[in-house]
Amino acid sequence: MTDAQPIVLLLSGPNLNLLGEREPAVYGTATLDDHVALAAATAAGLGLSVEHLQSNHEGALVDAVHAARGRCAAIVVNPGALTHYSWALHDALAAFEGPVVELHLSNPNAREEWRHTSVVAPVATGAIAGFGGDGYRLAVEAVAHLLGPGRP
Ligand code: DQA
Repeated sequence: MTDAQPIVLLLSGPNLNLLGEREPAVYGTATLDDHVALAAATAAGLGLSVEHLQSNHEGALVDAVHAARGRCAAIVVNPGALTHYSWALHDALAAFEGPVVELHLSNPNAREEWRHTSVVAPVATGAIAGFGGDGYRLAVEAVAHLLGPGRP
């Protein structure tokens, strides 16, 4: 890994620190560390590096998006429940210049009605949902495609 590798900021929202213990029938038994390791390994194979932050606090995630401006090439974000109501995260992501991939382990559209709205979706380049932990690999691969051969 060199300093020249584009950085993909991977953001994990509230309660994702409990993956592995939390509702395993919905979210699986892998931990967040497992998912981050898969994202990092996928990124390494594609000439990218991953920085990860998990927070249960909306403002910490907003701050991380601000700090990514001009520094990170792309953002992959699983906002957890903030997906469905955080206009602050929406606005922060709108101010980020690179691609944004919205990521969910489950398929929120196949669950309760209140999960069908994503306020992040309008500012995301695309979304990956419903593929469980494999979504972390797919999201990083999507970023590599979006950044393209002449990527920063
Ligand atoms: C989630 C889906 C959200 O609706 C939920 O609040 C989460 C996890 C997912 O990865 O499937 O916390 O983002």
